[in-house]
Amino acid sequence: MMDATATTDFIHLYEPGGDPARAPLLLLHGTGGDERDLIGLGRTVAPGAALLSPRGKVLEGPMPRFFRRLAEGVFDEDDLRRRTHELADFVEAARQRYGLAQPVAVGFSNGANIAASLLLLRPEVLAGAALLRAMSPFAQPPQADLSGKRVLILSGAMDPIVPADDVARLAKTLSGNGASVDHRTLPAGHGLSQPDIGLLQSWLAAG
Ligand code: MLT
Repeated sequence: MMDATATTDFIHLYEPGGDPARAPLLLLHGTGGDERDLIGLGRTVAPGAALLSPRGKVLEGPMPRFFRRLAEGVFDEDDLRRRTHELADFVEAARQRYGLAQPVAVGFSNGANIAASLLLLRPEVLAGAALLRAMSPFAQPPQADLSGKRVLILSGAMDPIVPADDVARLAKTLSGNGASVDHRTLPAGHGLSQPDIGLLQSWLAAG
């Protein structure tokens, strides 16, 4: 049995925001990234926002991730559920510690997938989420009340990791549960492109 500190403690970076009108960003990196990866992106897309950026606790070889997978695109859903609650508890504790409003998640790839899972399992934790190159985290998604949550999904038309029907299913699940979903498919692969940055910036500014 882990104690409360161990279950909610993530290695993370926290950067206070200068603009209280901006929602804090919860930055969630992709496989092989860490807490530093998306700080520059966060500063660019939401100047003045507080940034909270944890490092995923699961290691795949040397690569940090937010939950275990059995193969590429095949998720260990029991681990995903457990890790989602652990991350949600961390965010709640960090909000107390740093005095933060409800954050908007900005997740890339594996980080986008756990952000989608956070929305479905612990919707109270997030104000909304930008899911960059996300896929459906669950084969049978749970029901959640996502009314009032804004979600941006940015997909790559040439993404070799995320099948188009899979992310379409995610968009349908989230909007079916009441989220206000803006799903765009860009002429890009799995990596982020310049248009991702511009779209993310304007979507955050409109929030
Ligand atoms: C995942 O495992 O979450 C997805 O396959 C995306 C990735 O991290 O490569």
